[in-house]
Amino acid sequence: MLTKQYIAELKHKGNGDISALISSQRDVGSINFILESLGYLPKNFNPDFLYKLLRHNHSQVRLNAVKNIGKLNGKGDTKSLFELYKKETDTSVRREIVSSIGRQREPVNKPLLVDFLQDQDPKIVCQAIRGLLVFERDNDVETSLRPLVNHPNEMVRTIIYKEYFAKENKNKNILPHAQTCDFLKNIVVKADVLEALKVVPDESVHLTFTSPPYYNARDYSIYPSYQDYLEFLEKVFIETRRITKEGRFLIVNTSPIIIPRISRAHSSKRYGIPFDLHPYLVKNGWEFIDDIVWLKPEASVKNRIGGFMQHRKPLGYKPNSITEYLMVYRKSTEKLLDWNIRSYDYETVKKSKVADGYETTNVWKIDPCFDKVHSAVFPVELCKRVIRYYSYKGDLVFDPFGGSGTVGRTAKSLNRLFFLTEKESEYFEYMKSKTKNPNLFDELKTQFLTLEQFKKEATK
Ligand SMILES: C[S@@+](CC[C@H](N)C(=O)[O-])C[C@H]1O[C@@H](n2cnc3c(N)ncnc32)[C@H](O)[C@@H]1O
Repeated sequence: MLTKQYIAELKHKGNGDISALISSQRDVGSINFILESLGYLPKNFNPDFLYKLLRHNHSQVRLNAVKNIGKLNGKGDTKSLFELYKKETDTSVRREIVSSIGRQREPVNKPLLVDFLQDQDPKIVCQAIRGLLVFERDNDVETSLRPLVNHPNEMVRTIIYKEYFAKENKNKNILPHAQTCDFLKNIVVKADVLEALKVVPDESVHLTFTSPPYYNARDYSIYPSYQDYLEFLEKVFIETRRITKEGRFLIVNTSPIIIPRISRAHSSKRYGIPFDLHPYLVKNGWEFIDDIVWLKPEASVKNRIGGFMQHRKPLGYKPNSITEYLMVYRKSTEKLLDWNIRSYDYETVKKSKVADGYETTNVWKIDPCFDKVHSAVFPVELCKRVIRYYSYKGDLVFDPFGGSGTVGRTAKSLNRLFFLTEKESEYFEYMKSKTKNPNLFDELKTQFLTLEQFKKEATK
């Protein structure tokens, strides 16, 4: 009977026996079992039969033969592998050939690995890069690899950026990850966000949570067109990215909106803001992480289904919209989340741990909140969850569209710092009036600044 132990014994005896064993097999499953059981190949191993198997008509056998040739540590015949690569149609075998040649770590294989960089399959390009990066501080390798920072595939670009460009671009004046500038701590600035951000240094904030204006659906902001609106938000989130610490999060709350029809002869228009904004964020270096759905009770939303309930005619179906999106993005970085977490001291990590009862799904059932002055305020519960799940105590939380200041007040109640901008005097004054609550005052008082005052503080 064919067992792993029997194969191991034959392998160590000298592999004429393995070759004979393979020739005597009638079915492909047994040949694969032998090849997959070979494990480590001893120094005296004769690989000739493996090269014959490169011509086998079953792709899994060819794949296993290539894998074993890759274990020959510099003794593998790359010419045979390259011949197979040129005519092979099976993707897994092609990838394994490149990986096998790379694993041999032989300088003579460098030109071959450089050739593989032209392959259409991004995984082959990545395998070839891996094989080439073994040759550290090799000028030829660097010259071949650097231009791939503009490769069409995003994984390839990321590897090359990390290898050759990330260290060069690091700005030496940036504060340690857990810290931020004093002039941004617990500040509300009455200004257009784009003006205020001009004086904010790179990598200052740990988390941004915001709900942007709803295009022209509410009266606090008017844009000439939807395209203008999206381009305005693009600028805000490019700047937000600049001031965000490496690898930290942006959470944007939006939902599709409806602009009512101007007369019965026209139809109303619906705009899918979360979906239209998404490509602008990803294009500008925000990595998509999660979509969280904020679910509201049906009784709390506008009734759209009423007409359909009467007529029941297909095409006229308009469901009540009981959801909004919280789109979660991370400032793209080659660093892992562990790197971010390790930037905090033991005590901070311990104190910031999320207590039991946290949300386990991406559907968050939360009642909306209504306010007598501002028409679109966040429920405190929504802010609490975002701030607890995506920041540490002492972090700076930013909201470019401050409104009534819910993000700021919640951040403070959770021992975080906040920085808000709000362009409308009415809401700025409203925020001020809300801080009369003495609980909001401790050693770091909230400051309400005009743009000029803020600019002065920034240059102190
Ligand atoms: C949806 S509301 C945010 C409400 C807020 N989340 C809250 O809980 O109160 C958007 C806010 O952005 C403000 N805003 C609009 N354009 C702005 C800009 N260019 N700069 C700063 N604030 C702006 C609006 O005045 C409005 O108060």
